[in-house]
Amino acid sequence: MKIALCGYGKMGHEIETIARARNHDVVAVFDIDKPLSPEALKATPADAVIDFTQPDAVVTNVRVVSKSGTPIVIGTTGWEKERDKVSKMIADAGIACVYASNFSIGVNLFFKIVKEASKLLSSADYDVYITEAHHRMKKDFPSGTALRLSEEVLAGLKSKTKVLSSLKQGEAVPKDTIAISSIRSGSITGTHTVGFESEEDAIELTHMAKSRRGFALGAVRAAEWVVGKKGFYRFEDNLSEILGGK
Ligand SMILES: NC(=O)c1ccc[n+]([C@@H]2O[C@H](COP(=O)([O-])OP(=O)(O)OC[C@H]3O[C@@H](n4cnc5c(N)ncnc54)[C@H](O)[C@@H]3O)[C@@H](O)[C@H]2O)c1
Repeated sequence: MKIALCGYGKMGHEIETIARARNHDVVAVFDIDKPLSPEALKATPADAVIDFTQPDAVVTNVRVVSKSGTPIVIGTTGWEKERDKVSKMIADAGIACVYASNFSIGVNLFFKIVKEASKLLSSADYDVYITEAHHRMKKDFPSGTALRLSEEVLAGLKSKTKVLSSLKQGEAVPKDTIAISSIRSGSITGTHTVGFESEEDAIELTHMAKSRRGFALGAVRAAEWVVGKKGFYRFEDNLSEILGGK
């Protein structure tokens, strides 16, 4: 298939490598100095666009693909507040979009593990915390993956109803709230921990990405799957179909 990359940074380069290894043509590469446009997509038509840019670019890029009728895979994080707007743009244009805060297959299984663990621990008196660590160039916090993990904990652990991602001096964390802490340092690819704390013991579940390859592979497989579809899809909800398991 023909793939257009939007964002040619760390992830864009990794996706190019994986796409070529899977015998796809990377027909166009867009970045800040050569932005995605309806004219450019018309000149070099693609079967799908893969977007790994920055949060404030997502709505504009979705507007462009809506005009050209091209499906889009969105890996960029930090645009959650615009989700309803993006979903409406995709529906109005009659195109397809697959998005994920984390395209790693392991992380998407980790979401399910955390939900089950939270359900199991709900009857005991456990507090919970989430930490996420990434390289120092990451621009958004907390990570989209940490927010997704907090949704899984909220769904499973009855004692928690709210999420807090930044602490104020002199303010304690309320008992019904999950605190997410972010670490930014060096070149950490992405590490997420969900910790459960009781008076007697502690349980920690950690997912550690070893490289960006897993994210890139998930995004390319989503692009292969999305061609010919219409709708707004979350990667994890369609994981088994995307992986060919139906
Ligand atoms: N969903 C996932 O699995 C996953 C995995 C890793 C990273 N990410 C996210 O993907 C995004 C990119 O990550 P990265 O590590 O490649 O970052 P990066 O900074 O290395 O690359 C981003 C690239 O996008 C370009 N860019 C910025 N604005 C643009 C615009 N308007 N149009 C076109 N290009 C533009 C930048 O010039 C840069 O080359 C981030 O939001 C990151 O959090 C998601």
